[in-house]
Amino acid sequence: MKRGILGYKSKSRIKITPVTVLKASKPKIDHISRQIPPLAHTPMYLWHKFWSRKTWNVVGEFIRAYCPEGGIVFDPFAGSGITAMEALKNNRRVIACDLNPIATEIIRLTIQPINEIELYDAFKRVEKRVRKKSEGLYTTHCRNCKKDIVFDCAVWQEGDCQEVRYQSCPYCGDRREANCKLTKYDRDLLKSIESKKIREWYPTNRLYYPDGMPFKEKQQYESINQLFTRRNLQALAWLMAAIEKEPKKDLRDFLKIGFSSMVHLCSRMIAISNRSLTSHHTAFSSTGWTQHSYWYASNFMEQNVWNKFESAINGHQGLIKAKTESNALFKDKRFAKSIDQLLSGKADIFIYQGEAKIAEIKFNEAIGNILRESSRTYETVWGDTFFELKPITKEVDGQSQVQKDEKGNTLTNLGVNLDKLANLRFGQFKAKLSLAYDTGGGDKKSIVAEYEFWVVPWKLLLIIIVLIITLIFIKRKLSARKRRKRPYY
Ligand SMILES: C[S@@+](CC[C@H](N)C(=O)[O-])C[C@H]1O[C@@H](n2cnc3c(N)ncnc32)[C@H](O)[C@@H]1O
Ligand SMILES: [Zn+2]
Repeated sequence: MKRGILGYKSKSRIKITPVTVLKASKPKIDHISRQIPPLAHTPMYLWHKFWSRKTWNVVGEFIRAYCPEGGIVFDPFAGSGITAMEALKNNRRVIACDLNPIATEIIRLTIQPINEIELYDAFKRVEKRVRKKSEGLYTTHCRNCKKDIVFDCAVWQEGDCQEVRYQSCPYCGDRREANCKLTKYDRDLLKSIESKKIREWYPTNRLYYPDGMPFKEKQQYESINQLFTRRNLQALAWLMAAIEKEPKKDLRDFLKIGFSSMVHLCSRMIAISNRSLTSHHTAFSSTGWTQHSYWYASNFMEQNVWNKFESAINGHQGLIKAKTESNALFKDKRFAKSIDQLLSGKADIFIYQGEAKIAEIKFNEAIGNILRESSRTYETVWGDTFFELKPITKEVDGQSQVQKDEKGNTLTNLGVNLDKLANLRFGQFKAKLSLAYDTGGGDKKSIVAEYEFWVVPWKLLLIIIVLIITLIFIKRKLSARKRRKRPYY
């Protein structure tokens, strides 16, 4: 602040008035010019895997140095949300953006408080619905006392299940960590699991981008379901169906993110673990995802799905422990529904994922001689990937190959993914189709059509029909009884 003199001329005499001149000064930044030793992740930064998760205390120091208290931190590539959480911990507001929905969901659910006891009770209800059934897929006989027990993992080599491993027989304490070959019982169980159709929903999304290009690290698998053995796919499908039965959406969301934190450990991409004296690995450990790809593993470990879910929710690096830490830190933080709410100070965090554009089909890409120099774009927006662009493929030497046109563009079909039909719940839906085009002169136009319709699941229809039939039946019975009671004259 500087005191100064401001003078001006009046008609008659010179008037002098002292004023205060404000001089804007740059905020003083105490730059970080030293090494910041990284601290270990705490439970809320550990419960869900994320690639390139940054060290929380380093990010925290940067925020304190470069954003004033009460200011706004914007992270356009927020990932697992270290910046978001460190900003909130340090009383800054935050805008967190990531186009990957699992990233935004990890951020939301790390920050959103949930009662740990309610979460534990919900977990126990899921356990009641599915544990016994799930463990039935992993039963074997104790090699010592011959009683029925549940094994912890199986080892697959060259497409064949070769061993089972268990940590401790509950009856005699027997432990098998290697060379425990399959018995006839084990092989028959596996055969029967593999011959049965999985009736519950599981994802079949293909490992291709919407334009038909294969995922960079796709390797031999074609779709997500192929990343799992049938046994684990069945156990996971049962588990998800049991989670879906939870009536409260917020508890369901927490259980689902718990599921997502362990599902990769139940895939075929887990390397075989052997006892190690130099690391904490045991013969039963999940080694994690060792390759940065959808690794095509002929030798892998098949983990027991219920074990993994239990430790994801209730284990020492699980969700409940994470919530105990994060509930205390973020209990008063307010989520913004719009960016304006955040900017005006009515909320503390705005999480943003961007438009969920599912597909864009270009018409007349070659700009041929019909409608010269013009372009056409159809856009379908459907959150459930109900419509999907599928690359057109052809078998060449036993391998399926994506078809291209003479310009090298991938040929695609717009298909309806009927598997997603089961996702449609009772209610009113709106479909929107927009066509954008230009007339050659550069003036872009668009036509939008909307269509509203209702979805009534067949189960609900069936219940209604049964109710109507029962009502008709009761009505007839009642009127027959009335007729019998009427006195004859
Ligand atoms: C290296 S990670 C960030 C990790 C984060 N710093 C943490 O500590 O967890 C980069 C993130 O950028 C996201 N991303 C990549 N391209 C993006 C884009 N165009 N718009 C928004 N997010 C994007 C990815 O989904 C990924 O989560
Ligand atoms: Zn035993």
